[in-house]
Parts: sequence; C-alpha cells; structure tokens
Amino acid sequence: MSRLVIAVDGPAASGKGTIATMLGETYGLPVLDTGLLYRAVGVALERAGGDLADAAAAAAVARRLDAADLGDPALRTRSAGEAASRVAAHPAVRAALLDLQRRFAGQDRGAVLDGRDIGTVIAPEAPAKLYVTASPKVRAQRRWLQLKSAGEAVGYEEVLADIRVRDARDSGRDAAPMRPAADAVLLDTTDLTIPAAADAARRIVEEARARWGQSPG
Ligand code: C5P
Repeated sequence: MSRLVIAVDGPAASGKGTIATMLGETYGLPVLDTGLLYRAVGVALERAGGDLADAAAAAAVARRLDAADLGDPALRTRSAGEAASRVAAHPAVRAALLDLQRRFAGQDRGAVLDGRDIGTVIAPEAPAKLYVTASPKVRAQRRWLQLKSAGEAVGYEEVLADIRVRDARDSGRDAAPMRPAADAVLLDTTDLTIPAAADAARRIVEEARARWGQSPG
C-alpha cells in the first residue's frame, strides 16, 4: 500500500504548519493547512457584515468556500485567527468543511493535513499522527515575531492573551475539540530549533511507517 496520510494537529504557533510543509516536501505529498479554511470563513463572514456567532450564516459561507480564496494574505492576520476560532466552534461550519478535507486526505498517494481535529475526526485512519505542542509563552513569542514581520503592530502580551483564549476555546468546544488522538505521537517543540523539530517529526513518521509495514524511502 503506497498511500500515506499524515495528520499534524496542535495549538496555534506550535510549529505544526512548518512541520506539515516539511513532511509534504520529504514525502512528495500535497499539504492542506486546514486552519486557512476556518480563517477564510471567518474573514468572508466579517467582510459581508455578518455575525461570527450566527452559525447558519457561517455555515452558508463555509458551503460556498472556494479553495482559490485561501491565498489571501488577510487570512494570516491576528483578527482572522480570532474569527476562525469563533466560527470553528459551530458544528454546522465543521460539517460543511468535512467533505473537502476528507477528499484532500483521500488523494491517491496520500496527503499531509494540519489542524486541530485531523487525527480525531477528518482522518482517524491516518497511519501517522503527530500532535505538536509548545509552551504558550514560546508560541506567543513565535506568533508575535510572525505578526510583526507581516507589519502588524501588536504587543507580545496581547498575543500571549490571544493564544490562551484560543487554546481554551478550541479545546473546550463541544464540536471536534482540539485534542491529541489516542494514537498520536506528541512532539513538544518548546526547546527545539526548526531543523531539530523537523528531524523529530520525520523520525515519528518513519516509525509509524515501519509499524504500518512500509519500508522507508
Ligand atoms: O491553525 P490556525 O491557527 O490557522 O487555525 C485557526 C483556528 O481555526 C483555530 O484556532 C481553530 O479554532 C480552527 N481550526 C479548527 N480545526 C482545524 C483547523 C483550525 O477548529 N482543523
């Protein structure tokens, strides 16, 4: 069997996006940053003057979502992250985005998906699952630097507060809460450089492939 689906879950700024991109390059697989889907829904709803608490309106936007909209730099802002986390709590929004994500995971050779519920809901059958974490302070520092280099004027303390609110909302919601799958391997990147985290992630996938009966390479 030559299909390889890799689920990379974890909280904001844990390093999961960087790791997912690197794994996609290593294994020659397409990568989907599923956070962008929720960001696109939140941003489109706000632009249309809608209310992020309105589940039906958010789900209608999610059903019309066009993958071509995912390159918009506005999706990377702090407010887009907040809007994403609010619309992501609506079960109807998650249901509307399910097929697109499952189709992506179902591609012939496999795929890498990063998000919050890939290993638990979207691709529970994935043979390789990582749950990437880091301390809230280190994540806030990384996110603050990213936002600053993208030109957003925001203080570190505000970013740390955002991260704490988002973690609590994402892990406390009823619909597909953020949590590691029972068979996910935890990767704490708090004290790791990017190359060290990438190596650790590759080792986890190689071990999963070996268990799954595939030879590496
Ligand atoms: O990963 P990112 O920070 O871009 O995700 C933005 C928000 O989208 C998260 O805080 C979370 O609420 C939501 N999300 C989700 N499920 C996913 C990916 C993202 O609920 N698979």
